[in-house]
Amino acid sequence: MKNAESPPPAETGKRPAGGEDPASAFQVNGEAFFHSGDPAMPLLWYLRDVLRLTGTKYGCDTGNCGTCTVLIDGKARRACQVPMADLSGHAITTIEGLESNRLHPVQQAWIEQDVAQCGYCQSGQIMTVVDLLARKRRPGKDDIAAIANLCRCGTYPRIRSAIERALVLTRDSNK
Ligand code: FES
Ligand code: FES
Repeated sequence: MKNAESPPPAETGKRPAGGEDPASAFQVNGEAFFHSGDPAMPLLWYLRDVLRLTGTKYGCDTGNCGTCTVLIDGKARRACQVPMADLSGHAITTIEGLESNRLHPVQQAWIEQDVAQCGYCQSGQIMTVVDLLARKRRPGKDDIAAIANLCRCGTYPRIRSAIERALVLTRDSNK
């Protein structure tokens, strides 16, 4: 995953270089960065405004909607609620970093089931489901019902169908 637009400001987005404290470094989609700006800056702002990774969306900013969901060390987290000060040594994955050579099975399932309507919530939905399927090979109805990401377009039935399809695709890819 490469930054699509202008390079990040020098004080907040550059990779560790000689003299930087490696303990303050973290990874975003496999690339190393460090942050020496405001430690209270939410990860969501850093991703969108500094790294220009705009696939992670801004919704409520209160931790409720889930549209900003990313993976931190493989676990789904609300990026609007994570300060940059907490990221040293951690690995962040955004929707832009999910595929490697081919689509992740969850992405493939989302396309096959034509889940997205306006699309705004969908990167957060996908990242949440990636975490769920990594933790549970056979998630039950309760696990799926517990997904708290909101969708104003009401795509929930298609999300459930896509999760079923992703389970099949994941099993196939593990054969
Ligand atoms: S924008 Fe982060 S949970 Fe809504
Ligand atoms: S697809 Fe529009 S908000 Fe979910």
